[in-house]
Amino acid sequence: MTGPSRRDFIAALGVTAAVGGAGPLFARPVDDEQQAGSRPAAATPPRDLLLNYNESPYGPSPRALAAIRAAQTSLVSRYHIEETYDSLRDALAAHHGVTRDHIRIGAGSTEILKACDDVFLADGKTLIVANPAYEAVIQYAANSKAEATRLSLTDDYAHDLPRMARTTNLSTGLVYVCNPNNPSGTINRKDEVAFFMARVPESATVLFDEAYAEFVSDPGYESAVKYVKEGRNVIVAKTFSKIHGMAGMRIGYAIAKPELIARISPFTVDYAVTGLAASAALASVKDAAHTREVARKNAIERTRFVAEMQKLGLSCAEAHGNFVMVDLGRQVSPVIGALAARRILVGREFGAMPNFLRVTLGTAAEMTAFYPAFRAAMTA
Ligand SMILES: Cc1ncc(COP(=O)(O)O)c(C=O)c1O
Repeated sequence: MTGPSRRDFIAALGVTAAVGGAGPLFARPVDDEQQAGSRPAAATPPRDLLLNYNESPYGPSPRALAAIRAAQTSLVSRYHIEETYDSLRDALAAHHGVTRDHIRIGAGSTEILKACDDVFLADGKTLIVANPAYEAVIQYAANSKAEATRLSLTDDYAHDLPRMARTTNLSTGLVYVCNPNNPSGTINRKDEVAFFMARVPESATVLFDEAYAEFVSDPGYESAVKYVKEGRNVIVAKTFSKIHGMAGMRIGYAIAKPELIARISPFTVDYAVTGLAASAALASVKDAAHTREVARKNAIERTRFVAEMQKLGLSCAEAHGNFVMVDLGRQVSPVIGALAARRILVGREFGAMPNFLRVTLGTAAEMTAFYPAFRAAMTA
């Protein structure tokens, strides 16, 4: 097979001096790494550098991969729902300090978000959401023809929780709080959330999306599972796609009081989550060392990213997840295009923050390749 050599690719990135001879340029799954060791490097075609979907460049826990490899035929040929799902629900319940009936597994947290829209936006109820925030909840609200009130972020790009509480009324079915927020990367700290929870009417269900919670190192942050335990009208959505590095497996879950779990469950699809995904997720939940290590490496790259941008005179929204929004001070589309021409994919343009570029944090080697390419793209 012929194709551009790794050297050509690095030259195209303009980073020859920075990474030359320093091992594989971009992270690959463990298997690929092992196989690549037996092949000449030039035979491996270069890949796009994927800094666009907030996936983990560190991949899944080795224990999750081992669980997938060790899967018995019966895990594939049988439904296995009770055994596999209930073990996972038990492990998640223990992890969060709740009981099994507080957990619903979904085909990614997307299935949970959609089910919440289907249940709480029926009968003409409305949605309150920050702008920008993760779009899925707004997208699925269209199925219920629900009106969505989109409230601007604060001046420092966080959810305006006092305004969200004030805007909630008896016709509100769902308030969506993405914490940390995608795409801004900001958090709402526990005192702000407490203020909000003290004011938001109990008639509305509050959906906290905590897809990136495990990346947060700020001591002021707290999971909203606390409010589930207090019996509040709260659902927390979690995912295996981010810190667990299992986006392709499609598995996430909801944590809520049993009455709410009972309401959303009929709107999720039985058997949508495979036994294979559930057993890999179970292994990952038990590998706290892996998630800790991913969070640690991510935090180093996050600090480095902000410092690199500062050197260029660029400021970033306060970043708490595995991605950063950097203010380019101009329209981002040409820079996105110039990076794509260098085979580096970054986040799309977000209408409410048109000058901000969202960059998912890669491994140290990936980011070392990114910075010179970014500098070149900025001159495009
Ligand atoms: C805030 C947020 N919630 C949910 C999701 C979807 O996650 P999943 O892969 O679990 O469906 C994403 C994916 O990017 C996200 O950013």
